[in-house]
Amino acid sequence: MKIAVLPGDGIGPEIVAQAVKVLKALASDGMKIELEQAHIGGAGYDAAGDPLPEATMKLAQDSDAVLLGAVGGWQYDTLPRPMRPEQGLLRIRKGMGVFANLRPALLYPELASASTLKPEVVSGLDIMIVRELTGDIYFGQPRGIQLNENGEREGINTMRYSESEIRRIAKVGYEIAMKRNRKLCSVDKANVLETTELWREIVTVMNKDYPDVELSHMYVDNAAMQLVRAPKQFDVMITGNIFGDILSDEASMLTGSIGMLPSASLDACNKGLYEPSHGSAPDIAGQDIANPLATILSAAMMLRYTFNNEESATRVENAVKKVLAQGYRTVDIYTEGTRKTSCSEMGDAVVKNL
Ligand code: IPM
Ligand code: MG
Repeated sequence: MKIAVLPGDGIGPEIVAQAVKVLKALASDGMKIELEQAHIGGAGYDAAGDPLPEATMKLAQDSDAVLLGAVGGWQYDTLPRPMRPEQGLLRIRKGMGVFANLRPALLYPELASASTLKPEVVSGLDIMIVRELTGDIYFGQPRGIQLNENGEREGINTMRYSESEIRRIAKVGYEIAMKRNRKLCSVDKANVLETTELWREIVTVMNKDYPDVELSHMYVDNAAMQLVRAPKQFDVMITGNIFGDILSDEASMLTGSIGMLPSASLDACNKGLYEPSHGSAPDIAGQDIANPLATILSAAMMLRYTFNNEESATRVENAVKKVLAQGYRTVDIYTEGTRKTSCSEMGDAVVKNL
């Protein structure tokens, strides 16, 4: 199993180092893995003048899976758009064809009091957000900033989805729902946007192939409200790229911290890109205080989805549960009476609990 390791920017290198520790510990127990590191994002720009250097894309294509930290930093925000770190991330997602982004929002019982919502609203929460990742307004053409007929600048982005793009992500949503509680909520804005009217139509027709799945539809504004009002009504949510970006950040806070939310982005053959759902947090980079659990849990998702190694995936997830039960907390999930833990100590604690 060959894994490309792309730490990226900000806290990326610190958190990825902890996930690598965990993978190496599993390797010392006999799991066969080969890790190779490369630059992406601002680090790619600094090293090779490109947020996705050719060598990095090639490594990703030659690997079975990619483990990525995060990209972005204030020092890159004034670069021309194609050179910005985020473009590296969007290009590797598109280049790998990883259209299905799974973002599980799971509340660990020990963290119920770390959520800003009341414990009774979030306890037992277990939502899987399935976000389409390679289409929508993120990639739609035409786009740009241009002069309009009044000589005024105007910004343009285009929300587009083809039938086949909708069908393949809907299939992922239905199949995941079949393995869980068989409830699928499709999120759209079909009352205003034709793109999502088509989305709704196709998802509805496909319900015939999955008669055991209880399908519902929700407008995205209502979904945003329902996520904080009564989040436990959701099992699997399926939505487009931009709505999924927003709703998954929202859902992460139900679980106490965005530092807990892993993600898997899969292509049609389950080759995957694994990254925490959070960003590069440049304000705390280099201080060894970031929460590495989302990245460690992303590595667990890699073991499950790409390597089909349920046993090792569960081992990692159980180790995370144990460190939380033992009171280890990075600052983002710290509450009184628990043990304040650095990023690297958290990685060590997970390894010890494997
Ligand atoms: C995410 C991030 C990215 C996105 C950014 C960094 C381009 O917010 O993974 O959710 O918008 O997809
Ligand atoms: Mg986001």
